[in-house]
Amino acid sequence: MGERTFLGRLRCSVCGVECGATPQAACPECFGPLEPVYDREAQYRSIERSPIPQREGTLWRYAEFLPVDGAPRAGLESGWTPLRRARRLAQIVGVRTLWIKDDTVNRPSLSFKDRVVAVSLTKALEFGLEVAACASTGNLANALAAQAARAGMKAVVLVPDDLERAKILFSSAHGARVVPIRGVYDKVNRLCAEAADALGWAIVNVNLRAYYAEGSKTVGFEIAEQLGWRLPRHVVVPMAGGSLITKIRKSFREFVGLGLVRDAPCSLHGAQPDGCSPIVRAVRSGAKEVTPVTPKTVVRSLAIGDPADGPRALETIRSSGGSAAAPTDEEVLESIEILARTEGVFAETAGGVTLAGAQRLVREGAIGPDDEVVLAITGHGLKTVEALEPRARIGPSIDANLDALRAWLAP
Ligand SMILES: Cc1ncc(COP(=O)(O)O)c(C=O)c1O
Ligand SMILES: [Zn+2]
Repeated sequence: MGERTFLGRLRCSVCGVECGATPQAACPECFGPLEPVYDREAQYRSIERSPIPQREGTLWRYAEFLPVDGAPRAGLESGWTPLRRARRLAQIVGVRTLWIKDDTVNRPSLSFKDRVVAVSLTKALEFGLEVAACASTGNLANALAAQAARAGMKAVVLVPDDLERAKILFSSAHGARVVPIRGVYDKVNRLCAEAADALGWAIVNVNLRAYYAEGSKTVGFEIAEQLGWRLPRHVVVPMAGGSLITKIRKSFREFVGLGLVRDAPCSLHGAQPDGCSPIVRAVRSGAKEVTPVTPKTVVRSLAIGDPADGPRALETIRSSGGSAAAPTDEEVLESIEILARTEGVFAETAGGVTLAGAQRLVREGAIGPDDEVVLAITGHGLKTVEALEPRARIGPSIDANLDALRAWLAP
C-alpha cells in the first residue's frame, strides 16, 4: 500500500454531513449511520502499482478500501476464506451453480466477525484506546477476545446471558471479561451505547461502528475476486443487525466503480430465522419500515429484534432485485446437517438459516434453476452444537468386542 486512501473523514449516509474521523456512534446532526470517505484516485494509483492478486492471502489485500491510516495491527491472518464450489449441494437446492463462501474457517475465531474486528481493533489502536469492548450475540465477542489478546489489549464483552456455552467459554478462555446480561441483545446494545460515553472504551460496534462495519466489505471483495473478477447473479446472506448484507452490496459497487469488475445484475437476498425476522417481514410485506420484534429462536447469533441497519438492509435487498426468507428453526437445523453431509462444511445456526433460506427462495422462484448462487456461510458449527442435540441419533454404548459391533450394525 503506502499511499493514504482513507481521507480521515466520515460522512453521514442519510444527511450527507461530514465530520472528522473520531470514535463516534452516529451522525452528530441526524443520528444516521456514518461511512468513511476515501480518495478514489489514490485507490486507483495504489492498486495499479501493487495489483491485488499478487498480495498476501488475508483481508488486508484490500487495505485501500478500509478506513485505516497505517499498517494493520489486528486480524493479521483474517479473511481470504475459501469460495467452495458445491456440486452435491447444488443438486439438492436445485440450482445449476452453487458456491459456499466459507467463513467457518475464518481466523482466528471461526466466523466472519474476524473481519470487522480486524479493522476496528486496528482503528482502536490508532486512536490510542486501550480497552476494547462490544455488544455481541457471541461471534463478535469471540473475535474481539481472540484478537485483543493477540494485540495485548484488554477486552470486555457484553452478551445476552442465554448464549451457547462454547461462545461464552471461547471468550473467557482468551482472557476477555465476559459480562452476561439478563435480557435480549437490544438491551445489551443500549447499555453499550451508554457505556461508550461514560467509560471511554472502544466499543467496536458502537463508537467505532463506522470503521468496524467496513470490514464486512471484504466478504464481497473476496467473492468477486475468487469468481475471477466478476459478480455472482445471487448472494444469500444471513442478517442480524443487517450490516453484512449492506456492506457486501457496497463492496460490489466499489469494485464496479473502480473498473475492477463489470457491472452485472446481482441480487442480494436476506435470511433470518422465523422467530426473529423483522427485516424479512418488512421485505415480504412491502413495508417502508422495519418493525422490531422480540426474538424467539435457537439461532442466537441472529437474535437481534431491533436491527441497527434494518432500513439499509431493506433498501439493499429491494434495489438489487433481491428477496428474503425466514425458515423455521426446524428447517435451519435440518439444513445444517444437509450442508455438513453434502459438502463437509459444518456451519453454526446462522449457516443453517442461509441454506434453508436459499432453499425457500428457489422453491418460490426468486432464484431460478439455471442461476448461480453464493451462500454466505458465516460461522462454525462447533460453536452451536447444543442446537443439534435434539436431532442426535447416537445409540447406546457397546462393549469393545466384534460380536457387540455386529449386533449394533444389524438392522
Ligand atoms: C454467524 C453470523 N452470521 C451473520 C451475522 C449477521 O451480521 P449482521 O449483524 O451484520 O447482519 C452475525 C451477527 O452476529 C453472525 O454472528
Ligand atoms: Zn446525518
